[in-house]
Amino acid sequence: MQILWPIVYIAAACAQRAFAWGTLGHQTVGYIAQEFLAPKALAFVQSSLGSTYDESLGPAAPWADSVRYESAYRWSAPLHFVDAEDSPLSDSCSVQEQRDCGDGDCILTAIANYTTRVAKTSLSASQRQEALKFLDHFLGDIGQPLHVEAYEVGGNDISAKCSGSSTNLHAAWDTGMVSKNINENHGGEVQTYAADLIARIKTGSYKSLTDDWLSCTSITEPVSKRSGDTTAHGVEEDVKRLLARAEDAAEATITPLECPLVWARESNAYCCSVVFTYTTGEDLCTSEYYTNAVPVIDLQLAKQGYRLAAWLNVIFDGATNLP
Ligand SMILES: *[C@@H]1O[C@H](CO)[C@@H](O)[C@H](O)[C@H]1NC(C)=O
Ligand SMILES: [Zn+2]
Repeated sequence: MQILWPIVYIAAACAQRAFAWGTLGHQTVGYIAQEFLAPKALAFVQSSLGSTYDESLGPAAPWADSVRYESAYRWSAPLHFVDAEDSPLSDSCSVQEQRDCGDGDCILTAIANYTTRVAKTSLSASQRQEALKFLDHFLGDIGQPLHVEAYEVGGNDISAKCSGSSTNLHAAWDTGMVSKNINENHGGEVQTYAADLIARIKTGSYKSLTDDWLSCTSITEPVSKRSGDTTAHGVEEDVKRLLARAEDAAEATITPLECPLVWARESNAYCCSVVFTYTTGEDLCTSEYYTNAVPVIDLQLAKQGYRLAAWLNVIFDGATNLP
C-alpha cells in the first residue's frame, strides 16, 4: 500500500480533470501560513495534524484533492471553486455570490462552514482536523484565478501547451507553470519556494502590501470603502462576526463572509488581465505569457498563505497577530 498509494494518486490525478493548484501550490500556501501562526493557532495545528502531517499546514494542504474523487468525499468536489458566470474574453470579470453560488455549494460557503467547524469544541478531534485541512486547502484554491471562473470549466476544456507537452489551461496554472517556476527560480524544492516567498513578505517586495491583504477591500472596490472608516472590514471582523453568529444561531446557517468574496474577486480579475491573454498555439510555459504569469502565481500563493495564517490566528488567538 505504501508503494501503491502514490501511483494510484498520480493515475487519478491524470485521469480526472485537474481542479486545484497542484500539490506544490497547495503545500507552498500551507508552509507560508505555518510560518505566521500565532501561539494558540500553532498549538492547535500541531496537535490536530500530528505526525501524519509533520504537524504542519504544508503537508496537509493537498489532502482535500486526494480525497475528492473517493466516493466518501465526492460531495466535496464543488467546494473547491466558484463558477463565476462572467465574460473574461470580453474583459468583463466579476464574482457575484447570488449568481455564482446561489445553491450555497461553493468555495465561498465552504470557507464559512469550515471556519465555524474548526472552532467548534463540541466536534470531535477528527472533525476539527477535517475542517482545518479543508480551510488549509480552500484558502489556497480561492487564489487560483481559474478556480473562480466558469468559462470552459475553469479552463479545463481549453487545450494548451506547456514546455512542449499537451495540457489544458487550468492544469498549466495549477501545476505546469508552478513547477517550472519552482525548478527554475527556487531550487526545485517546494520548501525553498515557500521560504523565498516568506522572505518577500517579511522584508522584501511584499512587505508593504500585507496590510491590504488582510483588509478585505480590493482594488476593484470604490475608494471610499478603502479609507479605514468604521465600515472598513478586515479578516478579524469577518471571522469574529461569523463565530459570534455561529454561537447564537441554533440553526447554524452558513453566513456568507466578506473576505472570501473579496479574495475571489481579486483572483477572478486576473482572468481578464492575464489568464486569457495567450495567443492561439502559444506555448504557455516558454513565452511571454509565462513571464507575465509567474509574478501573479508568486503573489497569489504568498497572499493566500499569509491570509490563511491570519484567518487561523483570529480563530484561535483572537487577532491576526500579524504586523
Ligand atoms: C459543513 O461541513 C460538514 C462536514 O464536512 C458537511 O457535512 C455539511 O454539509 C457542510 N454544510 C454546508 C452547509 O456546507
Ligand atoms: Zn482544490
